[in-house]
Amino acid sequence: MVRVHESSIKRIDASLKSQPDQHLDFLVKKSVIEKILYLKEKKNVLILGHNYMEPLIFQLSEKNERGDSLALSQMAARSNKPIILFNGVRFMAETAKILNPGKKVLISDLEAGCSLADPFTAEDVVAYKLKFPDAPVVTYINSYVEVKAESDYCCTSSNCLKVVKYAAKEAKTNRVIFFPDSFMGKNIQNELKQEGTSIEIIYPGKYDDKFGKCEVHEKFTAEQIREIREQHKIPKSSEDSAVLVHWECKPEVLKEADFFGSTSQMANYIKENPRLKKVYLATECEMAANLASEFPQVEFIRSCSIFCEHMRRITLEKILYSLENEVYEIEVNPSLRKRALAPIKRMLAIK
Ligand code: 13P
Ligand code: SF4
Repeated sequence: MVRVHESSIKRIDASLKSQPDQHLDFLVKKSVIEKILYLKEKKNVLILGHNYMEPLIFQLSEKNERGDSLALSQMAARSNKPIILFNGVRFMAETAKILNPGKKVLISDLEAGCSLADPFTAEDVVAYKLKFPDAPVVTYINSYVEVKAESDYCCTSSNCLKVVKYAAKEAKTNRVIFFPDSFMGKNIQNELKQEGTSIEIIYPGKYDDKFGKCEVHEKFTAEQIREIREQHKIPKSSEDSAVLVHWECKPEVLKEADFFGSTSQMANYIKENPRLKKVYLATECEMAANLASEFPQVEFIRSCSIFCEHMRRITLEKILYSLENEVYEIEVNPSLRKRALAPIKRMLAIK
């Protein structure tokens, strides 16, 4: 009889205590959670949880099994467990499979897509490469194996600036193709300009009518942020309150932020600023729910009409079914996998 899961149940109980609604949900769903944690131990499964998972799903992962896209890929790369269950969206689970071809990688809903990854194909990348043959291709991790296979480097929102600069330097060029997030491409361009760097970023929409965007982050506007600041008394550059924004937002939204970064970088910002009492996050609303139990002293202003439909496809019941039956496995074509692994490895090697 496996008993380790009992300590995880105690951990979840304790960490959700400060949030009465979440704790009530936990009590209602406790038996499903227990079954999942029992199988996690019994089958020796690594359960990875993205920051956007709803609190009860997020808590199925220990602290060192949670994070943003970069951290989760690094955890997948290091794992020696035979099964990985990915609580996130499909491109994330696919990245884990590319890194672990010999392991069983499961996602409880194979239809969990992403508005950035879904519309773009390998042919789209090839067209850019033909148009700009000297420019290396940096592809955002929010993409599928076919697109990564045509790329020189992969990046995530926590290392995009560093990877783009590295790619330009290695290729001895000042032009880099950035794929497929157009807002992020513009944001990287603006940062480079501010740093006085002459690298030009070529992103979808710059010289054509293509456009890549996150359907969640595109909803935030600069005007909203200004109104939220006024209504909730969050002045710019204050010591005890802040507006944190994800890289995938529009450039004008980043301008209104006190800080912008990846999901985990936003969490770290709160950790590094212990005086914060009030925070507005311009990102998926479950992220604030997860941070609320980690930082009970902070009041999180949440926009809960703004959530990711794809992330929401992952439910406790589907997770249990997938683990019990070991179904909904990610499959990747071996030759594509090999080609897609190279840009991911190059990214992971950049210090
Ligand atoms: P992070 O890598 O910052 O977690 O972002 C992933 C994502 O899909 C954000 O919408
Ligand atoms: Fe994709 Fe946006 Fe959802 Fe992230 S939040 S998975 S970028 S649709």
